[in-house]
Amino acid sequence: MELRRIAVLISGTGTNLQALMDATRSGRVPARIVLVLSDRAQARGLERAARAGLPTAVISPKAFESRQAFDQALDDRLRAAGAELVCLAGFMRVLGRELVEAWAGRMLNIHPSLLPAFPGLEVHERVLEAGMPVSGCTVHFVTPEVDAGPVIVQGIAPVLPGDTPERLQARVLEVEHRAYPRALDLVVRGRVRIEDERVVVRDERPGERLVLHPLLARWMEP
Ligand code: GAR
Repeated sequence: MELRRIAVLISGTGTNLQALMDATRSGRVPARIVLVLSDRAQARGLERAARAGLPTAVISPKAFESRQAFDQALDDRLRAAGAELVCLAGFMRVLGRELVEAWAGRMLNIHPSLLPAFPGLEVHERVLEAGMPVSGCTVHFVTPEVDAGPVIVQGIAPVLPGDTPERLQARVLEVEHRAYPRALDLVVRGRVRIEDERVVVRDERPGERLVLHPLLARWMEP
């Protein structure tokens, strides 16, 4: 199968980038990362990419007068790299409508909650405040409305007694690292289409779009 060309956009640690690098390198997901781009030169994920020999780029919004100019520079760089799909992996900037629409159906994002619940920032704090017994993550197509596009895969993690935002975040990250490669796999294999603003998966097996945290999986065993 021909490898699809992926760009990964990051702002921070890049553990999701790592999961995507591992899944593509091993051949589990038929894709190749052709660019890792950050809006912050200090993003630790850039080191991961460089160590793996992947091309990296930094485009800082500070270098541009408007968001539109920043978005344009981003788009130019993505196209120059020959990217076919874009994965936002902890990329902490909101992209403008024009850029998002140019990449409609070809730009994915991961968010650390079970969308449509808890869009936005400080997710784990709000999940704990609301007393939710479960949380998780969502991989979705990016649309101009933030954290609202069609859902491809979700991962579920339990909230445990005594959780702090940091502990919950770590548990949710574990399912993120399995959910993102799963979602990318469905997309690069051409099994996903968007119909009435929802994702439809060809030959979907029950539970294929759901990832359970290992604790949940164990509790649910017969
Ligand atoms: C992840 O938890 C991701 O879901 C979140 O940032 C973290 C990045 O971690 N993304 C958002 O909140 C987007 N709104 P990573 O750099 O280790 O992959």
